[in-house]
Amino acid sequence: MDLYTLRKLSFTYPDGTAVLRDLDLTIRKGEVVAVLGANGCGKTTLLKQLNGLLRPTAGEVRLRGRRVEDYPEREIFSATGFVFQDPNDQVFALTVEEDISYGPRNLGLPEEEVERRVTQALDRVEMAAHRGRPVATLSHGQRQRVGIAGVLAMEPEVLILDEPTSGLDPMGVRSIMTLLRRLNEETGLTLIVATHAVDLVPLYIGRIVIMSHGRIVREGSPAEALISTSEMERCRLHLPHIAELMEALKQKDRFPLKKIPLTIGEARREMVKLVPPEVLGEIAPVEKGKVCH
Ligand SMILES: Nc1ncnc2c1ncn2[C@@H]1O[C@H](COP(=O)(O)OP(=O)(O)OP(=O)(O)O)[C@@H](O)[C@H]1O
Ligand SMILES: [Mg+2]
Repeated sequence: MDLYTLRKLSFTYPDGTAVLRDLDLTIRKGEVVAVLGANGCGKTTLLKQLNGLLRPTAGEVRLRGRRVEDYPEREIFSATGFVFQDPNDQVFALTVEEDISYGPRNLGLPEEEVERRVTQALDRVEMAAHRGRPVATLSHGQRQRVGIAGVLAMEPEVLILDEPTSGLDPMGVRSIMTLLRRLNEETGLTLIVATHAVDLVPLYIGRIVIMSHGRIVREGSPAEALISTSEMERCRLHLPHIAELMEALKQKDRFPLKKIPLTIGEARREMVKLVPPEVLGEIAPVEKGKVCH
């Protein structure tokens, strides 16, 4: 089922900066969509159109067939959870518990329901142990998780995240991506994520939208969207590093690869296929069935 339909969406800021140009995009319920693009290409501006923080200058954004700007504010804000890039823009109450309960309580829900949602949201982001802590004492990564929990507690239909992994250490980035994918798998929540984590995108994301100068220049599965270094460079992006290596082996060293593997797991499988078993036997036995990503 189509959740969002964007038709000829254009947006110009009041100071005359034209940012989004003629965007057409459909997002189905339950999808995990990554929005990739260089700094300043319009990712945040696009995400803000999806929950009505900004309104189109021309064209339209529809959620379930109805224009976002025609929803009552309360309804659109609870249906579309927006996680800001900087958790300090999101998390403001004194303690973790107060922060997460703020939204559901504001919806006028009974106390037991507020309690249930806070507990569930904290569990989902693996922050249950921090429930009573003052927000001011949390690390950036922990604050980011509390920000996500606060939005989850509103039980939105779609979660819109603006670079949720910026400022996190490499393991922190992976664990947020894992958490997001698990949320999608377990609850069917639709996720729309602006991100620069291009190496991880093929592992965690079903569909990619690439933006450049306010336009969507390519979209599809990771294999359809991440096709070559030269295409990516045109949008001031790069392929996942492992794909850059595999592309160089194919093009410069004439390795017979039909397509460019995008993950370490795919690359490993292709390389193992290309090396005769007797050579592999001399070096080291191949671990069967255990493929790291
Ligand atoms: N309030 C504003 N008024 C005028 N121009 C703005 C405003 N906010 C953003 N812009 C401009 O709009 C363009 C797109 O900005 P946006 O924040 O959407 O980019 P982005 O893709 O999210 O970049 P980043 O990767 O750096 O977060 C930029 O040129 C930016 O300077
Ligand atoms: Mg941005």
